[in-house]
Amino acid sequence: MPSKQLRYHLTTFGCQMNEHDSERMSGMLEALGYSESPDRESADLILFNTCSIRESADSRFLAHLGQARRLKREHPDRIVGVGGCWAQSLKHEVFARFPFVDVAFGPGQVHKLAEFLTSESLSAQGYFEFDGFTGRLPARRTRPFQAWLQISVGCNCACSYCIVPSTRGREVSRPPHELVEEVRAMARDGVREVTLLGQNVNSYGRDLPATAIARGERAAERVTFAGLLAQIDAIEGIERIRYTSPHPKDMREDVIRAHRDLESLCEHIHLPLQSGCSRILKAMRRTYDRSRYMDRVALIREQVPDVALTTDIIVGFPGETEEDFSQTLEVVEEVGYDGAFTFIYSPRRGTEAARIDDGLVPHEVKVERMERLVELVQRRARERAQRFVGRTLEVLAEGPSRTDAEKLRGRTRHNKVVNFSGLAAPGELAQVEISAATSQTLAGEETLLARAA
Ligand code: 5AD
Ligand code: SF4
Repeated sequence: MPSKQLRYHLTTFGCQMNEHDSERMSGMLEALGYSESPDRESADLILFNTCSIRESADSRFLAHLGQARRLKREHPDRIVGVGGCWAQSLKHEVFARFPFVDVAFGPGQVHKLAEFLTSESLSAQGYFEFDGFTGRLPARRTRPFQAWLQISVGCNCACSYCIVPSTRGREVSRPPHELVEEVRAMARDGVREVTLLGQNVNSYGRDLPATAIARGERAAERVTFAGLLAQIDAIEGIERIRYTSPHPKDMREDVIRAHRDLESLCEHIHLPLQSGCSRILKAMRRTYDRSRYMDRVALIREQVPDVALTTDIIVGFPGETEEDFSQTLEVVEEVGYDGAFTFIYSPRRGTEAARIDDGLVPHEVKVERMERLVELVQRRARERAQRFVGRTLEVLAEGPSRTDAEKLRGRTRHNKVVNFSGLAAPGELAQVEISAATSQTLAGEETLLARAA
């Protein structure tokens, strides 16, 4: 234990995997006796959990790091720590380029941060092996009724634009009995909604037999992702299960049927498209084409007609012509997503696509395509959302609305944000009658009669 109460300040960038790692970092630091500082200026330990998925993520982070350098100059005994994907992707250069950084560690290496802080070492330290699950550390949850469950680390895909396989390593699944135990403990703590996290959740479990053999353990339990979902669905107290992200190539019928059959598995699937053009998908090494993707969508809609579908799309991949891009627009029109994250392609260090120098799309063309895409995504999402108007939906209340202090905010099983008037406390399930819908949010009123019943 430190003799004086030391304070940390943590800034998180990037995906839910990082948000989750940060919960573990906070939990671990608090176990070591640190308390949270409201700002960087008064922190003894300045920490960043970084992302490198796109160029914009890098530049945003560098501005913050500049402030940390200044603060370190003012108080040289302050510690500056950088974890996550940016640190991993620059592991050979980080201390040479940023000498004021004391400790750097890759994603999931949160336990190494503890090792550093409790050691006598004063020199810069880097920890970049792929060997850990943060899942085994204490977490400090932002909301007591929602939790993340990390089911695997790493990614075996080779998407040509993506830095993640190099920052998070090969895929390793956690054993199912350990996951079920963790969710049981969450349920005992009052968690009602759990989100399963993995880079490619559908391939969960495939590596388990080989991993067990390599470790000299008894033959591992064989379990598929659908099997894991069923085991978690059976746990008393867990009302909602979500997961992110599946890869369309591995989206099998058993998982789709699980959405129909398992009571707590939500009616929402995030199915990253990336491009609607088969030629571009091939260059991206996504291993599915437009028709195979549309097949998956058809199967999903057949089994779970009311499902909400969301997606990720990249515009301006090298070689993307106007004709290729128009195929993406066609798919978006046809599928009618309930929402989409849209990104301008940026080359990432060490990736296959970064080496392409043919057919590069000029920045202004990328921006113009992005604008057209966003407009279409929003129109389709707005149209799709109208199906909820007049219906009474189950909403997990999260707290006050961000736009109107008189109202509450929560989420439907379809993952739509709802602003509503009512009495539900955070963590309660409310029945909300939906009166209006935009592309992003729903509005409504809690039906209090149902509460009284
Ligand atoms: N450029 C733009 N977008 C990217 N994504 C991943 N790599 C890149 C890149 N180099 C997007 C993908 C992915 C999401 C998390 O980020 O759409 O699904
Ligand atoms: Fe960013 Fe990808 Fe790393 Fe998540 S896995 S933090 S999105 S680079």
